[in-house]
Amino acid sequence: MADWTQVEALDPPALLDLFAADPGRVARLSVDLPGLHFDFSKTHLDAAALAAFQALAKSAGLAARRDALFAGEEVNTSEHRAAEHTAERGEGAPDSVARASALHARMRALIDAIEAEALGPIRHVLHIGIGGSALGPDLLVDALGREAERYDVMVVSNVDGAALEEAFARFDPTATLLVIASKTFTTTETMLNAESALQWMREGGAEDPHGRVIALTASPDKAIEWGVDETRVLPFSESVGGRYSLWSSIGFPAALALGWDAFEELLEGAAEMDRHFRLTALHENAPALAAFADLYYTQVKRCETRATFAYDERLRLLPSYLQQLEMESNGKRATIDGRPLDRPSAAITWGGVGTDAQHAVFQLLHQGTHLVPVEFIAAIEPGDLLDEDHHRQLLLNAFAQGAALMKGRPNDDAARAYPGNRPSTTILLDTLDARTLGALIAFYEHRVFVNATLLGINPFDQFGVELGKEMAKAAGAGGSDFDASTRDLIARAFGE
Ligand code: F6P
Repeated sequence: MADWTQVEALDPPALLDLFAADPGRVARLSVDLPGLHFDFSKTHLDAAALAAFQALAKSAGLAARRDALFAGEEVNTSEHRAAEHTAERGEGAPDSVARASALHARMRALIDAIEAEALGPIRHVLHIGIGGSALGPDLLVDALGREAERYDVMVVSNVDGAALEEAFARFDPTATLLVIASKTFTTTETMLNAESALQWMREGGAEDPHGRVIALTASPDKAIEWGVDETRVLPFSESVGGRYSLWSSIGFPAALALGWDAFEELLEGAAEMDRHFRLTALHENAPALAAFADLYYTQVKRCETRATFAYDERLRLLPSYLQQLEMESNGKRATIDGRPLDRPSAAITWGGVGTDAQHAVFQLLHQGTHLVPVEFIAAIEPGDLLDEDHHRQLLLNAFAQGAALMKGRPNDDAARAYPGNRPSTTILLDTLDARTLGALIAFYEHRVFVNATLLGINPFDQFGVELGKEMAKAAGAGGSDFDASTRDLIARAFGE
């Protein structure tokens, strides 16, 4: 049973006082991994907080649970499954690693065949999926594929036909590869979009459109039943959760567009973070320190949100990716053993890109009544070829915002006063490439895991998404078990 007594008693000094009292603070609260630097010094973590969180981690059995995760044990108890995303990058139970690597080999062989034009000439890749079957591949291709001229990839998730129409307007149906990504191969939005895309290919004159369909799924039988040829079904393990699945065949469009070597680098970067998480003492462990700060702000300071700002246009999709990873994993109200959670669950994750966000939402961060822990992410090497002044300004803005949030500025005029003492974390990459992005994403996964373990919740199920889905299906089937407001809306929209 986790013991929160010490954590709840924490009352650290103001950030500037923490710096004044400890000249070694930056070094003590920084973590360096190859190509990545994490600076937690502008959070309220200090020696007392670290001791309190280490005691909490011990009482919550973090070390044993971390071992269970990597050993492929049934950590997702409500669904009676392991959570084996780390096995995809070679860090897990030997059998699971072997299975994942055999599936990767199959994926690579299909990519080689596509490159050799075995499916005819392909220029466009239309990836259809939603949630974890879309956000990861979309992030990877957007972040790393900007110069890739091999294939033009578009990820379509929304069932709103306007989303698919954008792809139809941009792509040539005779040169398009249709990729259907769905762990279950039953998700309504994905199946409808896939049908419509196939019809568009057929009507657009594609010869043998079925011959250009690839399925990425943990339910291969369903994909075959749908009409995808077995040779073009790329399975992944049931024990890899949707929001943890970009390392599996769900990463197919990234591997195709960026090349297999880049995909392997992504996996290696993640594996490096896995080893760091598994083997490093908690006071020097990046995912653990990040989670300790998260929990200090959500549990002690009762912050309801946290915000991530990528000072790098290439990472503009990272906040949306993190929203699913963090909120679908840790937005829970029951503990892993079925009791009501008696404290706040995950913070609401939001964010955007810098410097744009400075001119939109930073007013509230500096002067609003909410305390919002902020995370800045930037890369030292620019991602553009313009005059270096662009990148210099970009980075200086990120650093200055963190400094200003912490320092604040008094003023007799309340409207012009900045309270300061507002926390931030900075993650600085040497360069944004497949390896550092892999490590960064794995860092977030493990941070979610530590948060969940200390809260005593299961980060690997997502029953909260089911009720709305069921009710939408019931509405489609003419179900009338709705309240008066919903019945009225249905009648106005469909005249039913
Ligand atoms: O509705 C939520 C969810 O189940 C996510 O967890 C998942 O990533 C998404 O839907 C898509 O599911 P699938 O990959 O099975 O289509």
